[in-house]
Amino acid sequence: MPGSGARGTASVEQRVAAIEAALDERGLKPREAVEELSHLAQEEWIPQNGARVVAKAWTDPEFRKRLLANGREAVAGLGIKMPPHHRHLVVLENTPAIQNVICCTLCSCTAFTIIGLPPDWYKDLEYRSRVVRQSRTVLREMGLDLPPEVEIRVWDTTADTRYLVLPERPAGTEGWSEEKLAGLVTRDSMIGVARL
Ligand SMILES: [Fe+2]
Repeated sequence: MPGSGARGTASVEQRVAAIEAALDERGLKPREAVEELSHLAQEEWIPQNGARVVAKAWTDPEFRKRLLANGREAVAGLGIKMPPHHRHLVVLENTPAIQNVICCTLCSCTAFTIIGLPPDWYKDLEYRSRVVRQSRTVLREMGLDLPPEVEIRVWDTTADTRYLVLPERPAGTEGWSEEKLAGLVTRDSMIGVARL
């Protein structure tokens, strides 16, 4: 810190305290904001939301149609909120011949209120750059070895357009309840780096 002279640079704790004090002075309640954010991240922005959406799409053809036509509206109908700047939710349907994969080449954007906050590897420059150029190899390295006839489609998230991969319903799950089906759906399958 310039001017702090022989006392050296302020510690992280001192800097945090100074920022908190400055925000407090302006009535911005920084501690409450951090607590609120932690609560949202740990208890509300979780992949179980997306799992519920996927299971409903597997069992309710009308909902599936609505979800594919306007994802944002369809998930709102299940009580799942998206921030205002996530203007579009585009749902990408996997088929035996097509595997959709999402990334954010610029940073780490996801439909985080639906599929949860992005895992570390998703934010890594390695994944963000290589999944576009070498998608088949990257998926194989992550444990998804697709036969050559499966087309891989990579989708680059933007600030206002978010994606959700709709995995295929696993065989042998006929007659399962929505809740039981939701238990099969993983975060990685909704990013598209895994099949179920
Ligand atoms: Fe991003």
